[in-house]
Amino acid sequence: MDPWLARLGKIIPQPVKRILIWCYRAIRRSGLYRALAHHPLSRDKILQYWQSPWDGRNLPRHYLQGAEKSELLLRLVCQVTGPEAPLLEIGCNVGRNLYYLFTAGFTDLTGIEISAQAVDVLKATFPDMAQRIRIHNAAAESVLPILETNSFEIVFTMAVLEHIHRDSEWLFGEIVRVTRGYLITIEDEEHISWRHFPRNYRKVFERLGLRQIHSEDCSAIPGLGPGFVARIFQKPSTGV
Ligand SMILES: C[S@@+](CC[C@H](N)C(=O)[O-])C[C@H]1O[C@@H](n2cnc3c(N)ncnc32)[C@H](O)[C@@H]1O
Repeated sequence: MDPWLARLGKIIPQPVKRILIWCYRAIRRSGLYRALAHHPLSRDKILQYWQSPWDGRNLPRHYLQGAEKSELLLRLVCQVTGPEAPLLEIGCNVGRNLYYLFTAGFTDLTGIEISAQAVDVLKATFPDMAQRIRIHNAAAESVLPILETNSFEIVFTMAVLEHIHRDSEWLFGEIVRVTRGYLITIEDEEHISWRHFPRNYRKVFERLGLRQIHSEDCSAIPGLGPGFVARIFQKPSTGV
């Protein structure tokens, strides 16, 4: 945080601070702000970025860190299913989340990851897991349509749907199609940038027939922060 902002924070009384934060967040959520502030790249440029991030951020080694994030994921998964369930992570990067599940006894694991470098790090870091699970090294846009309907008890994403371009929003219907039991999203629903597409995932997935059964604010979790919400959705057994 900027030092001047920290100083200002100490001067402003707590109730005023709360009102200012509320106003700031309300403005950022408004349609007008989003329309004015959002200048995303094209879908192809964003997919190219994730294939090989060129700005020194989002490098695979950064994703080996994040114990608290993976512990959260494991807790949410164990809330709804046991270790025999087939699970899919979209955007698994180096496989940190998958490895937490693997060491907790989940072995029917599948990952989708667009970055070849991240998948190489996954194989080098977790060789025992890499031999036993399936990894699709390609864009979710090419992999999801070829997966069978209702093939995963849980599909989950962490900080991935927020990077799905508006032109790829048809993927959300594909996610619902391949999900048999539950969908878990842990996504930043507020941040906006050339590669962040904020959405309320409750609205997105309830429109597609899922039912939200749990949600929690993740702003206090290191590596997630303000704007991150974890949600669990259930797919009606009558089929969507
Ligand atoms: C912010 S990182 C999060 C990584 C991981 N889920 C975690 O929490 O540690 C976003 C990940 O999604 C991947 N990704 C982004 N768009 C993708 C797409 N269209 N298809 C497959 N993977 C994608 C990126 O390569 C990156 O690994």
